Amino acid sequence: MKHQTISNRREFFRNAAMAGAGLVMTPTLAMGSGDDTIPHLKNSSPALSTRKLGGLEVSGIGLGCMSMIAGTYNPTPPKDEMVAHLRKAVERGVTFFDTAEVYGPHGSEEVVGEGLEPFKGQIKIATKIGFEIQNGQRRGRNSNPESLKKAAEGCLKRLRIETIDLLYLHRWDPQVPIEDVAGAMKDLIAAGKAAHWGLSEVAPDTLRKAHAVLPVAALQSEYNMAERVVENQILDTCEELGVGFVPWGPTHRSFLTGRFNEYSRFDDLDRRSQLPFFSKEGFEQNMPFLRIVRKWSQAKGITMAQFSLAWLLAQKPFIVPIPGTTSPQHLAENIGALEVKFTAAELNEIRAEIENFKLLGVRAPETALVDQ
Ligand SMILES: NC(=O)c1ccc[n+]([C@@H]2O[C@H](COP(=O)([O-])OP(=O)(O)OC[C@H]3O[C@@H](n4cnc5c(N)ncnc54)[C@H](OP(=O)(O)O)[C@@H]3O)[C@@H](O)[C@H]2O)c1
Repeated sequence: MKHQTISNRREFFRNAAMAGAGLVMTPTLAMGSGDDTIPHLKNSSPALSTRKLGGLEVSGIGLGCMSMIAGTYNPTPPKDEMVAHLRKAVERGVTFFDTAEVYGPHGSEEVVGEGLEPFKGQIKIATKIGFEIQNGQRRGRNSNPESLKKAAEGCLKRLRIETIDLLYLHRWDPQVPIEDVAGAMKDLIAAGKAAHWGLSEVAPDTLRKAHAVLPVAALQSEYNMAERVVENQILDTCEELGVGFVPWGPTHRSFLTGRFNEYSRFDDLDRRSQLPFFSKEGFEQNMPFLRIVRKWSQAKGITMAQFSLAWLLAQKPFIVPIPGTTSPQHLAENIGALEVKFTAAELNEIRAEIENFKLLGVRAPETALVDQ
């Protein structure tokens, strides 16, 4: 019996990894693609294990939709491909999708709205507001309650839904008391425009103040095996308050997947070109970190992306990573991480190895205590 389980799990990882490499059609992919399969979906989505973000239940891994529009890593992919990609994600059992008003601006929400429209009520969409947008350009922060309410209306239209499942304040503008932001979110929830609310990149004290006015479902901040600043009090505060945690950048912008080497360089339009971590010096110092990731992924019989995501999932039961991908193959690979288990001894060993390594271009732990 035990042998059976292991061989099934091996098969699962092998399929997911091969799908990642574009080598095979997994049974779920074979269900078809695009609109033709939609009526079939209601009863056929494989159940991925779920996790709770406060009172919101979602698939244990979500899909980040930021790079479905240009502005961060890649040029804008064809919209019909992203619509099909979103629908395939639902076929595969993903029920949690992350976007924001400023991605584009608006373009990511538009594609998410179109792609997920047939699944209204079956999946959960999170979006973020709180930046000024003028003439199609992102400007400064704006946490003004009336502006937030107006922004939420725009999100609802683009997402083609009546209620936003999880509405985050993208970045807090400290000129507006956080209690007033919570008040605006309370009004939006009372009006049925949002079901839950969250914050992004705030310090533990700010999270506490906000939560005291209106329980926060989730905090979304950067976290992965390389960038671990939230381990300084932030995760503990979430645990104490019952707030879920959504790590953005869970593969460290693809670094942890082993996609790059020390000769990799980025286009000026790629956000990574501006980050010291991904500079020539950064790669020289940071690349050997991947030996740890490679060693452990080989030992577990999984890919580096799966190992990195599984490691995050193993840190706390209320963590739901949202790897961003424009590739159905990468998505198939990433959700395979939900099947990976670690022993306590393995986690301790991994922890000792990563803490021993000094990375260039990561944040200092004290910055976790300051709103970003
Ligand atoms: N709250 C915030 O301030 C904030 C900030 C940034 C992002 N976010 C959210 O968090 C999400 C994830 O963050 P992120 O996109 O910055 O970082 P990420 O998920 O760590 O990395 C995304 C990059 O990794 C690549 N990738 C994903 N899976 C892969 C795999 N299995 N193998 C190889 N490459 C893979 C993607 O390329 P492909 O497209 O080719 O797969 C993409 O270039 C975003 O989509 C967005 O929704 C929030």
